[in-house]
Amino acid sequence: MQINFSEYRQRRERLMTKIGTGTAIFHSAPPAVMHSDVEYAYRQESDFYYLTGFNEDHAVAVLCPHHPEHKFILFVQPKDLEKEIWTGYRAGVEGAKELYGADEAYPLAELDEKLPQYLEKGDPLYYHFGRNDNFDNKILKHWKRLILTYPRRGTGPTAIADSNFILHPLRMVKSATELEMIRKAMDISVEAHLYAQEIAKPGMYEYEIQAEIERIFHKNGATIAYPSIVASGGNSCILHYINNHRKMEDNDLLLIDAGASYGYYNGDITRTFPINGKFTSEQKTLYNIVLTAQLEAIAQIKQGNPYNLYHETAVKVIVEGLMDLGLLVGDIEEIIKEEKYKPFYMHRTGHWLGLDVHDVGLYKTGEETWHNLKAGQVLTVEPGIYISPYIKPVEGQPEIPEKWKGIGIRIEDDVLVTESGNEVLTAKVPK
Ligand code: GLY
Ligand code: MN
Ligand code: MN
Repeated sequence: MQINFSEYRQRRERLMTKIGTGTAIFHSAPPAVMHSDVEYAYRQESDFYYLTGFNEDHAVAVLCPHHPEHKFILFVQPKDLEKEIWTGYRAGVEGAKELYGADEAYPLAELDEKLPQYLEKGDPLYYHFGRNDNFDNKILKHWKRLILTYPRRGTGPTAIADSNFILHPLRMVKSATELEMIRKAMDISVEAHLYAQEIAKPGMYEYEIQAEIERIFHKNGATIAYPSIVASGGNSCILHYINNHRKMEDNDLLLIDAGASYGYYNGDITRTFPINGKFTSEQKTLYNIVLTAQLEAIAQIKQGNPYNLYHETAVKVIVEGLMDLGLLVGDIEEIIKEEKYKPFYMHRTGHWLGLDVHDVGLYKTGEETWHNLKAGQVLTVEPGIYISPYIKPVEGQPEIPEKWKGIGIRIEDDVLVTESGNEVLTAKVPK
């Protein structure tokens, strides 16, 4: 399954109607070095990939709606059979046109020579700074030269605008084909979590569970969306625990936060369960608070609701639950306003999900205005309670009895906003 050629073209066309008289430039991701001259598996930059489907490094895409013929230009590595024997086949300049639909393509080495013709008639220049210092400097150099020569030409980019603000609103709302890819990533993630729940038992090592989860990702043509978190016992209180080397014991909870990446679309699921099949009474009490928080939060996900409502809902349930247990004391409004719950719940209740795990898009559209949810957006709902062995309550709050310490619980699902409400895409993993 993959996004087809015409969808990439549609995406570029939609972006170009927003660019108007401007020009936009996107750079591919650099290869990431593992050590010496060994590289990690290549991962394309998501904006670049969203617009091109092109999965090679050392490439630049230019969108130039004001050009009479060349609206979409790719600069790529030319074919070079000697190098391709080592690192894989390249589309090359011809392939960029024939396979990826570029109106014109050049070897990347010709960028400095060929780029000005596309920039000198457009205004503004859309580009996102901060991903690649060398290329940022190159863009600035071109822009400075064009500003210097502007008086003699009377055209060119007078300003550089961040491409995020025109592209990311498009990426936030998923197309039907994207949703198919996302569902596939979720289904693979679900299969892995179900299997992990089936096999986990005291005496196993966390990494054995990790291995089985990732085996299921790979056998389905996927890879990890992020380093898998397999956190037992007190490790469950470490939000991004990826060491995964502990031997699991009876009466432990096991928190698994793992998701598959399929065609760069990501699942992101967390489940927490008793490794021997039975919660202790403290584990059960806290689990039920988190579960209620998650279910009530999910109920707030519907088109038109402000983004933050589901987080506020989860926080309220968690604070009420901790107050009932005497772990937080005082006035509930004040505890929430002054965030006195943060030693127990220190992260937000979710994030956008898509080509990036923490996907792009605004959460707020003004100081006091939250983005209103729209059908086609995908987000995570992932409340938790973490009572670290080293927890330090804020001033005026009680010390935490030992029996609660070392319990960390998070429950995370991936949710699609629909016109009538929502759909939990990862519902098949039991809670
Ligand atoms: N697994 C990363 C996250 O939940 O945000
Ligand atoms: Mn997660
Ligand atoms: Mn998440």
